[in-house]
Amino acid sequence: MIAVSQSAENSFTVAIDGPAAAGKGTIGRAVAAHFGFAHLDTGLLYRAVGRRVLAGEEAVAAARALEPSDMAEPEALRTAAIAGAASEVAVIPEVRAALVEFQRAFARRAGGAVLDGRDIGTVICPEAEVKLFVTASAEVRAERRCRELQAAGHATDLATVLDEVRARDARDAGRSTAPMRAAEDAVLLDTSEMSVEAAVAAAIGVVSAAREGGRGR
Ligand code: CDP
Repeated sequence: MIAVSQSAENSFTVAIDGPAAAGKGTIGRAVAAHFGFAHLDTGLLYRAVGRRVLAGEEAVAAARALEPSDMAEPEALRTAAIAGAASEVAVIPEVRAALVEFQRAFARRAGGAVLDGRDIGTVICPEAEVKLFVTASAEVRAERRCRELQAAGHATDLATVLDEVRARDARDAGRSTAPMRAAEDAVLLDTSEMSVEAAVAAAIGVVSAAREGGRGR
């Protein structure tokens, strides 16, 4: 009880959800840096479970055994194979349940937190002070992800990445536990025709407005 009220004091949660490669991570990192908040890319948790499963572990046991060292090298988790495995383990309710407590504690830490994922505004932090749903057309998202993967040295092409992104979105939106969807009170940010700078500025504007509005409560 005491630990909860201590960490809830001075907490401020920004929940960012949206489909694959929408720019949630870039926006989340920039918002966190701007306001001095901590940032958690929750996709890394599912990717780390996915990597353990690809290595032969059972999914629920892998989620329960997750340690900080699993996420120590995020770049190693950003492959198409691990992304696919992540979205397959993410449909399993017990996998999701094993990751809830860590995410909620992170969200309520003192000093503010930004979490990005698929179910942050709907399931993990329905009480978040700010909720953003960041999206873009599948074609634009696939182009961005294709460039990122190629820059990281992965051999791939646009048609393959577009197929992967669409398959993952369908699985993430169609699962019965914590499906990807915008919370009713989320602000929608379609970045299809926006530069990174414009998208970040828009997100910072939404957070600033909420902080102003919340003063004196
Ligand atoms: O970076 P990208 O948007 O492509 O994916 P990610 O955020 O790293 O998430 C990888 C996969 O993990 C997603 O396709 C989801 O299946 C799953 N995930 C989830 O179910 N819930 C979250 N809060 C975050 C990720």
